[in-house]
Formats: sequence, structure tokens, C-alpha cells
Amino acid sequence: MCSIIGYRGKLDAAPLIVESLKRMEYRGYDSVGVATSNEGKILMRKGVGRVVEVNKLFNLGKLPGQIGIGHTRWATHGGVVNSNAHPHTACTNDIAVVHNGIIENYMELKEEITNLGHTFKSQTDSEVIAHLLEIYYLDSKDVKEAIIKTCKRLQGAYAFVAIFEDGVIGGARYDEPLIIGILDEGYFISSDVLGFLEHTDRAIFLDNQDIAIIDGGELQLFDFNGLPVKRPITQVAWELGAADKGKYAHYTLKEIHEQTSTIIQAGTQNIDRMQNFCDIILNAKSVYITGSGTSYNSALIAKQIFAKFAKIRVETILSSEFQYVHDLIDNNSVLIAISQSGESSDVLQSVKTAKQKGAKILSVVNIQTSSLARISDSSLGVNCGPEIGVAATKSFTGQVSLIYHIADNLCNNCIGFVHKNKELISAIEFVLDNEYKIAEIANNMKDVRDIYLLGRSVHYPLALEGALKLKELAYVHAEGIAAGELKHGPLALVDLNTVVIVINPSDATFNDTISNAHEIKSRGAKVIGISDSENHLYDQFIKIPKVSELLYPLVEVIPLQILAYFLALKKNADPDYPRNLAKSVTVK
Ligand code: G6P
Repeated sequence: MCSIIGYRGKLDAAPLIVESLKRMEYRGYDSVGVATSNEGKILMRKGVGRVVEVNKLFNLGKLPGQIGIGHTRWATHGGVVNSNAHPHTACTNDIAVVHNGIIENYMELKEEITNLGHTFKSQTDSEVIAHLLEIYYLDSKDVKEAIIKTCKRLQGAYAFVAIFEDGVIGGARYDEPLIIGILDEGYFISSDVLGFLEHTDRAIFLDNQDIAIIDGGELQLFDFNGLPVKRPITQVAWELGAADKGKYAHYTLKEIHEQTSTIIQAGTQNIDRMQNFCDIILNAKSVYITGSGTSYNSALIAKQIFAKFAKIRVETILSSEFQYVHDLIDNNSVLIAISQSGESSDVLQSVKTAKQKGAKILSVVNIQTSSLARISDSSLGVNCGPEIGVAATKSFTGQVSLIYHIADNLCNNCIGFVHKNKELISAIEFVLDNEYKIAEIANNMKDVRDIYLLGRSVHYPLALEGALKLKELAYVHAEGIAAGELKHGPLALVDLNTVVIVINPSDATFNDTISNAHEIKSRGAKVIGISDSENHLYDQFIKIPKVSELLYPLVEVIPLQILAYFLALKKNADPDYPRNLAKSVTVK
């Protein structure tokens, strides 16, 4: 999964494309490439590394021409080497293409095309698109026909943009996003509005199975049968593009600090929309929640909160597992999909399946222009602004905060969450003010190989989330464990070299979790306690303030994020762009 961008207009394409790619790097950052069309010739430069590095080496932004395409890659098929970087050309160099997604039948296509005498230069699935376009274009010299015929051959999920020798740009989408940005000086065609938001807030979100062709100053849209289609122009919120590091060394640190305000923003919802969202839940016979990664951890918290306060039974299903376990979902069901990006392939696939079975779709999503928000029956925005750091931080607390607001609405304000804003903010500020103490703890953990995180009840999903942050950011083996399960197996792993983080605020779980801390301590492991109440068992103690019980999850996650961030720094890892990961995983 990758980012793709194309531009045709009156401005120089390559420098615009390089800037766009920097903004969309969260989608993949293994390698990068740009191709332009200039005086009837296609020029191309590409290489392995981040946009800034490759641009410095190969001057991508210096390619001449006012027509171009660009790509950042997150490798799926073929290693991270220059030849697998996009754009890809076929045999004649008359066409170059950038692709996001996976072409599932690429092996068959490759064999067929090779038998026609074509030679492949990469191991990617994407290169088949370039060859198919070339075959059909050489046949007809018609861009539209070449794209339609190519799409008919492809299986899988894809969005691609191609430039042709005569400077025409063509793109198509099937289950991957593609958005047009409209400028006075031309058009962008991009995976994400962030690709062009610096230049325009006017966008056209292409429907699935749409084709866009930019020829001269004109944009034409067609469906896969070649029939002209019209799509509305949407005005996108400018704030989405407002992402810089400010005074912070990394986006991740900035986003951790922003939580004092983003947690509150999540509660700013349109009353009617919230009511409609909750009515759909109340009218459903069964409620399911799905999500991936951090968003799934939010779903686990939602399950507990909905049961405890709204007395609503909810089943959680990991989005990647959804296709195997949806048997009981029907037209009396509602599926709540939680996602920061609203573009995770597994989440969108789950929603598609549930929709086909007649279920209503609700979503809790940060990017309100995303595919998920657009296909939901009702959607609530997390409102935390752009999250650039690949590991989710402020979107997690935003999701959890919004879940509390939804639960409050479902139970006639039995939680009174909105009245706890002040208490919550001052607790988070306390943790952030003491960030340096957590950094000191992280400094001594550089060589730790295994970290276990324990929590009970609602603190168990927090243990999972803390472990996920440590894995993603600091590349350390970390496991979240329901504290009571320790004795049923994991205790066998605990020895003198283990670090165990105990999430143990003083609520109903406190005494039982302290017993677990004893069990660990007597096996010689090092115990780090996160609590409002100190204990002699803790070798190191991260203090959080005493707050109303239901606020603990939102407070205790902050030190876990900070610990992972500083441990990443200690290990010389880039916390914003962890190796092998991408923020928005748009492939299965
Ligand atoms: C990727 C990211 C995770 C994120 C997950 C779900 O794996 O690296 O940090 O939690 O996707 O993303 P979503 O946008 O659907 O919340």
C-alpha cells in the first residue's frame, strides 16, 4: 500500500509532486519515484529511501514538464530495491504508471504478457498494469479504451495513475481511493486529499470503478463501461493539511502533547447526528464493533463501557478476521467500524461484507472525507486533526473519549463524561509535565528484550495498546496480558531479565493486580508500576493522578505512549516512521 499522485496543469509538475509525496509518506516510505512527460518524452527518476533522501540524491523535483506522476511505496510484492520502486514503464517507455493496492492475478497476467514477448524489469505486481496499458494503447492509441480494457483484466484492489507519451493522464480505482483536486492551474489526482490540500480545497471523490482522464485542460470521468459519469465537487476542510511539528522534535511527540485538547474536541458533536447514531444502535438487535490495530483496542474498551453504562451487549471482531466470522450478522445488526484513517482495507472489507448482509453501518472515524465515513449510514468524527506519526496516539484517546460520549448518550447521561473535562485535562497535564521522569526510565531499558504489560478489566485493552506502542515505536517484544492470565502460562517466561509493567490504578482491580505484582517480583523480574498509588513492589514508579475511575484508561495510556517514544529515541529508531509499517494499510 502506497501513495500515488498525478498532476497536469500550468505549473511545473515535479516539484509539486515531491511536496505532495512528503505529505502522503504515512502511506508507505520504502521508496519513491517521479515521472514527467516533457516534449513528448517520459522522464523518470526513482530510488529506495524516504522522499527527502531520494530527492536529494536524484533531484526528483528537477524533472522538467507540467505533467507528472509520483509514488511512495510500502512493499508488498518484491523487495525494497530501486527496480521495484514506482513508476513502472513497460517495453516502449511510452507509458509510466504508479499503483496502490494488490493485483491478485498478476502471476497469470505476467505469464501471458511474457509469452507475448514483453520483458519485466521488476518483481512487483504493479508492472503488469504498465504492460497491459501499453498493449491496449498501442492497439488503439486511445487512453480511455486502454484503461477500460486493462481494468477488465485486473483482479484485486487497485488505484492507478498513468501518463501517456502524449501527456494525457489517466487513472482508475477499484476498492482503493482516488481523489481529484481542482486548481485554477490544473488538476491533481491523488490517493489522499493531503496530496493537494496545500493548493486547493476543491475535490472530487471518485466512486468505485471510476476512470478519470485529464487531457489538456479538461477532466473527464467515466465508469468501467466507458459511460460518462458526473461526481459532485466537495469542499474539504483546510485544517486537514495543517500539519507541522511545531516546537517538537517529532510528530509523535507533538501528537502525544496535543491530547489535552484533542480528547475534548472528540466530544464536540452535532446533536442530531449523535442522536441518529445512537438511535441506530438502540434499534438494533445485535451490535458488533470492528477495527484494526489501535482502533481495535478502542473497540475492546467500547465493549466494556457499553455494557457497564449503556447495558448494551456488543461483540468485537478484528477486521482482519471479520470475513471468517460474520455468520450471525443480518439486517437487524449494526456494525460500528472504528478507524483513524477510514481507509484500512480490512475495515472497509468488513463493512462491505456486513452491508451485503443488510446490517447498518456506523463509524467512528477521524478523517471525515474517508471511504469509511462516506459509506456509513451514520458517522461521527474523532476530530483530532491530522495524525502524522505512524503509531496512533491522539486518535486513540480521541476514539475512547468519543466512545464515552456515545455511551453517555445511550444511557441518558449516566456517566456525565462532559463534566469531567477539567479533571481529565489536569491529569493528562500532570503526566506530560513529568515526561522527563518517564524518559529516564526509558533510558535504562535500551537492552531489555521482553516487556509484559498487565492490566485487568478496562486496563487490559490498555495493556494491549501499550504493548502495541512499544512494538511499533521501539521494536521491542512486548505483550499485553490480562493480569489474571499470568499464572495460566506467561509466568513461565518471567525471569531476572524480564520487565513487567503493571497498570494498576486504585480501582476495583487494584488488589488483585497487586497480587500479580507479588508473583512477578518473587521470580526476580523488574516491575514498573503505573498508578496513582505507590507500592514497595515497584522497582520503578510512574505516577498518575487520582481521578474518577472511568478516566483512568485515558490517563494511563499517556505514560505508555511516552515510554515507547523515548525508548525509540534511545534505540535510534525514527518514532514517526517505524520500519516496515505504514499508517494507512490499504491492502489485505
Ligand atoms: C496500521 C497502523 C496502526 C493503526 C492501524 C489501523 O496498522 O500502523 O497504527 O492502528 O493501521 O488504522 P486505522 O486508520 O484503521 O485506525
